[in-house]
Amino acid sequence: MDLRSRYDQATAQLDPPLALVDLAAFDQNADDMTRRASGKPIRVATKSIRCRTLIERVLSRPGYRGLMAYSLPEALWLHQDHASDDILVAYPTVNRAAIGELYADEEARQHITIMVDEDAHLDLIDAARDGQTQHDIRVCLDLDVSWRPAAGVHIGTRRSPLHAPTDAYAFAQRVTGRKGFRLVGVMGYEGQIAGLGDAPPGRPVRAALVQAMQARSSAELNERRTEVVRRIRAIAPLEFVNGGGTGSLESTSADKSVTELAAGSGLVGPTLFDAYAKFHPQPALLYALPVVRRPKAGVATVFSGGYVASGTGTPDRLPSPFWPAGLRLTKTEGAGEVQTPVLGTAADGLRIGDRVWMRHAKGGELAERLTRYHLISPGEPDAVPVPTYRGDGQCFG
Ligand SMILES: Cc1ncc(COP(=O)(O)O)c(C=O)c1O
Repeated sequence: MDLRSRYDQATAQLDPPLALVDLAAFDQNADDMTRRASGKPIRVATKSIRCRTLIERVLSRPGYRGLMAYSLPEALWLHQDHASDDILVAYPTVNRAAIGELYADEEARQHITIMVDEDAHLDLIDAARDGQTQHDIRVCLDLDVSWRPAAGVHIGTRRSPLHAPTDAYAFAQRVTGRKGFRLVGVMGYEGQIAGLGDAPPGRPVRAALVQAMQARSSAELNERRTEVVRRIRAIAPLEFVNGGGTGSLESTSADKSVTELAAGSGLVGPTLFDAYAKFHPQPALLYALPVVRRPKAGVATVFSGGYVASGTGTPDRLPSPFWPAGLRLTKTEGAGEVQTPVLGTAADGLRIGDRVWMRHAKGGELAERLTRYHLISPGEPDAVPVPTYRGDGQCFG
């Protein structure tokens, strides 16, 4: 049976909108990522999954260790749920109540690490715990791993201000010299490599430019990161140095100073990760929308569908019709708030109530739209529903 018929049959009793995760594809993606990580453990980026069952599933596989959460309230919730005893919050925390909660919970304090990259973060943490410093908060230094090939040129994300080894080291000294903090890690996310496809379809010139940029950026970064880690290790017994993402597992694992990687999107294979030369995740996460109208020949209109991904606001952030093959969104309406027209001769084969299967551009954001994912397991005829974060009544932003 082809995959489309299999998915239709496994969810036949359900009314769309619905999303499914093909666990065979998910597991294969997980294995391919550990192969690409060349023996370095992968910390699971929860923002790209947002479903506890899937997070637990990948954590139980060899090659995966620890969670990379995106907010402290999320990390505290996951910790209470015993999802992991090693949770790194990868973005700075200014949520005073959550910091207070972390400080008051001895176990959470030992298992959760929060991100800092300037003194104001440390000040805010101190204020949130009413100046009490008898217990340490575990912190990780966020290194700016963008590429700056010339003065004024910045290629990469705008995150930490700590770019030069001297600046990173000076900040590490201030952290270690301050009561109430334990510097346990260094992290840097090289988005210009990990999140930028080097094989955009139909754009060979752009592909060549991106590949050249990534090769040079990676060489510069591995040298600079090695130097930062060497200096900081002299003053702090680092437990981990985290780097990379789905798109950079090969190049980040090649940096000897990096002890672990981070990734999430590659597990579910969203469309933004179709454009890489070295790996091709399987689309493990799909969603179905029902046809509600047939405005004219060559057009079918499905219910809902405006699940647009965050980021640049460019067309690559739009959802993509997947099955039946050959459908596309319209330029004038795109993916709509309550209805989405899809164009193509394949639309003529669709009747009211039929399904169009779609793919999201990113890994985790679909879970903010739906309360359940339906899991398809090999050998099991019916899909099994599990809650997304939303279905668990959680929304962390
Ligand atoms: C700090 C950090 N690490 C890793 C990643 C990689 O996540 P993914 O593999 O889902 O692209 C990201 C993505 O934005 C990130 O912000």
